[in-house]
Amino acid sequence: MDNFLSELPPPKFPFPSDAALAEKGQPSYVQHCAECHEPGRPGTNIPHPIAAIGADRERMDTWIKEAADIANQRVKSFGITRPDMVKIEAYQSPPLDGLWMRAPYLHNGSVPTMTDLLKPVAERPKICPRGYAVDDPVNLGFITTGPEAERAGWRHDVTVRGDSHPGPTYGVGLSAEEKTALVEFLKTR
Ligand code: HEC
Repeated sequence: MDNFLSELPPPKFPFPSDAALAEKGQPSYVQHCAECHEPGRPGTNIPHPIAAIGADRERMDTWIKEAADIANQRVKSFGITRPDMVKIEAYQSPPLDGLWMRAPYLHNGSVPTMTDLLKPVAERPKICPRGYAVDDPVNLGFITTGPEAERAGWRHDVTVRGDSHPGPTYGVGLSAEEKTALVEFLKTR
């Protein structure tokens, strides 16, 4: 099942996109993102230590060694053999395919668009409505401004425990042009 699903192509970005601009964004992806997000690379889909990526740690802290031990014992008591669950201080780096349908981003959904994820932490949205599933075809993600979004969404506030986005910050040092091109490239994934 895993192999089958891994090989299925994601649904294509359904809005107009600029192929020439996307091509310009590829080198940034290769240089700054591929090592952790390109399928087949050793850093992809593996846990990255929280200390290195700087993400909000609360969700990770909800999973403790005792819980892993109890789960392992319970599964064994059913007569099922499987690799033991473990406690690690890390988050997984997923492949970035079908990204246009996966917003809001990060494990806690704290970043509404790809353009926002490439901003320095202080400039990322702090409070925004979440749950208004209307695509933002420019910034790649979901629309979070305007009365409709306010009405349909619930309020994501990054000052609430577990809802912050202090990291990762890969790509924030790119120029404005490079970021626009990278976002365009990511629409094609
Ligand atoms: C050293 C490894 C590493 C590098 C390099 C890296 N990332 Fe990530 N990325 C991660 C990890 C780990 C997560 C999971 C963080 C979380 O969920 O809080 C992540 C999460 C993401 C997500 C959220 C995915 C989702 O489904 O919510 C996006 C989008 C993303 N990265 C884009 C990028 C881009 C674009 C670059 C290059 C500019 C990049 N990353 C570079 C490790 C990396």
